[in-house]
Amino acid sequence: MGSTVEQNILVTGGAGFIGTHTVVQLLKEGFKVSIIDNLDNSVIEAVDRVRELVGPDLSNKLEFNLGDLRNKGDIEKLFSKQRFDAVIHFAGLKAVGESVGNPRRYFDNNLVGTINLYETMAKYCKSRKTGPIIQMVFSSSATVYGQPEKIPCVEDFELKAMNPYGRTKLFLEEIARDIHAAEPEWRIVLLRYFNPVGAHESGRIGEDPKGIPNNLMPYIQQVAVGRLPELNVYGHDYPTEDGSAVRDYIHVMDLADGHIAALRKLFADPKIGCTAYNLGTGRGTSVLEMVAAFEKASGKKIPIKLCPRRAGDATAVYASTERAEKELGWKAKYGVDEMCRDQWNWANNNPWGYQKKP
Ligand code: NAD
Ligand code: WQD
Repeated sequence: MGSTVEQNILVTGGAGFIGTHTVVQLLKEGFKVSIIDNLDNSVIEAVDRVRELVGPDLSNKLEFNLGDLRNKGDIEKLFSKQRFDAVIHFAGLKAVGESVGNPRRYFDNNLVGTINLYETMAKYCKSRKTGPIIQMVFSSSATVYGQPEKIPCVEDFELKAMNPYGRTKLFLEEIARDIHAAEPEWRIVLLRYFNPVGAHESGRIGEDPKGIPNNLMPYIQQVAVGRLPELNVYGHDYPTEDGSAVRDYIHVMDLADGHIAALRKLFADPKIGCTAYNLGTGRGTSVLEMVAAFEKASGKKIPIKLCPRRAGDATAVYASTERAEKELGWKAKYGVDEMCRDQWNWANNNPWGYQKKP
């Protein structure tokens, strides 16, 4: 189902993990896409592979701009030469541990970058008289639920952040709500991702963290290809069935489709206001279950070491998906077996990610 009029979408952080997968789906759905990315946590090779995946015709609808949201001039350059129907805002730093050690970097990048973007959107959308609507999809995170007292997490739970990274997401959600309250011409969808994993089924694009991964699935993947010797399982005494912590893992292609659903909602619903949606599967999976699923998908043994709990980790977090299903008409299609299959396909074909073996 392509869009009838070709709509032009600005994707910040489009060279990154979730960005590349979403850009593939946007192009396939008939949107024109401009990426702005400073390649702080990504490589241009990822964008080249997006082009390869969609083929030459759709690739002509994709423009890459090297730029940093902290420099207003970089954003102005884009808005001064073209009109955007909506912005999908992925660009941001996301490493929880790093944010604890260097909060200024996180506040500068995530907050200043986003405020620059909003200022430019407001200036150009109004001055160009493109209609009174300013449309925006923002990457929020399940981190805004902190350690939830109840599960599943419902969008109207009280929000709290546990670390500087989480606070940037919480502040940016609040900023979006304040802007919408003052200027109702803004339509904003806040998407709270749970734990994005997996890769495009082609095995050509996937997650490629720099350095030692912090997150579970990239870590397991690097053990499977022999880059790391074993997985530390953080916590085996949680009050869960097998003692390990439970999360809501979601296939990145489901997430990508969630962005298309969010855009369509923005375009269609004048009453959308500023609304948050969980993007998860609604199912919890433990660390040990995830290891077993990956072993099954890859045929590789993942050696594990049972370790103490990681500071700040919650016992169990998973999403209520009711609002997204009802209002966006979106529901995750894939389960953990498909997530592990596609993650392994990416890892097996690209054991060093986008880099060559050092
Ligand atoms: P990623 O690091 O792979 O992608 C982010 C991209 O933004 C990178 O390509 C990076 O170079 C770019 N970027 C960062 N700062 C920039 C700036 N100032 N100007 C221009 N480009 C900049 O991360 P991802 O996993 O694709 O995450 C995308 C978004 O989703 C982030 O905002 C992240 O906080 C959020 N999120 C991610 C997860 C997750 O586990 N992956 C979960 C919840 C929310
Ligand atoms: C999952 C489980 C770990 C690594 C983080 C951010 C959150 C969001 C998603 C951006 C936990 C365990 C992990 C390892 C392990 N990101 N684990 N060994 O912590 O749920 O969420 O990513 O918004 O903000 O905090 O994801 O993948 O790090 O951990 O045992 O080597 O795997 O303890 O129980 P998390 P994760």
